[in-house]
Amino acid sequence: MLTQSMRLRVRRARPHDAERVVEIERDCFTNPNPALLLHVCGRVDGLLVAEADDGILGYVLFTPSSAHRARVMSLAVSPRYRRMGVAKRLMRGSFDVLRERGFRKVGLEVRVSNTPAQSLYEDLGFVLTGVDEGYYEDGEDAYLMEKSL
Ligand SMILES: CC(C)(COP(=O)(O)OP(=O)(O)OC[C@H]1O[C@@H](n2cnc3c(N)ncnc32)[C@H](O)[C@@H]1OP(=O)(O)O)[C@@H](O)C(=O)NCCC(=O)NCCS
Repeated sequence: MLTQSMRLRVRRARPHDAERVVEIERDCFTNPNPALLLHVCGRVDGLLVAEADDGILGYVLFTPSSAHRARVMSLAVSPRYRRMGVAKRLMRGSFDVLRERGFRKVGLEVRVSNTPAQSLYEDLGFVLTGVDEGYYEDGEDAYLMEKSL
């Protein structure tokens, strides 16, 4: 349990974080892509983890999509640690990294059924910019959302 007294740190992922990051992805998604996370873990500054005394609680993966635009590719928080502000801290950490590198916008896709994530993104200032029909492999549509940094 994350308590007030436990310090939450957001930092760049290191290679030895890979196992835990992949475990969180498996716990959070029905269609995990561990190969991608294993490949980038510790190699790019676009993979951040949130860590407390209990270990790693969540991660965010983001990547450039054009000169001034980036994309959030994956975000997940271990089910035991949800609604404690961990995702918000991770997303804000990614905004800091992207601003430092001169990015002006960040975009993402979210399942139309994923209302918790949509609420989070709206809270962080993302706006709906479109719908990508059948975006996911099971045929579900994605909302496209974007935020200025
Ligand atoms: C979506 C997810 C990352 C949110 O992580 P989290 O650490 O629980 O989010 P936070 O505690 O930072 O929430 C911040 C705000 O987001 C919104 N929010 C988060 N979860 C919510 C939920 N279940 N229902 C409604 N609003 C929610 C709220 O506005 C919340 O603020 P509040 O708690 O003060 O009301 C987490 O639920 C998760 O890992 N889900 C499975 C994977 C996933 O869907 N990833 C996103 C793919 S696009």
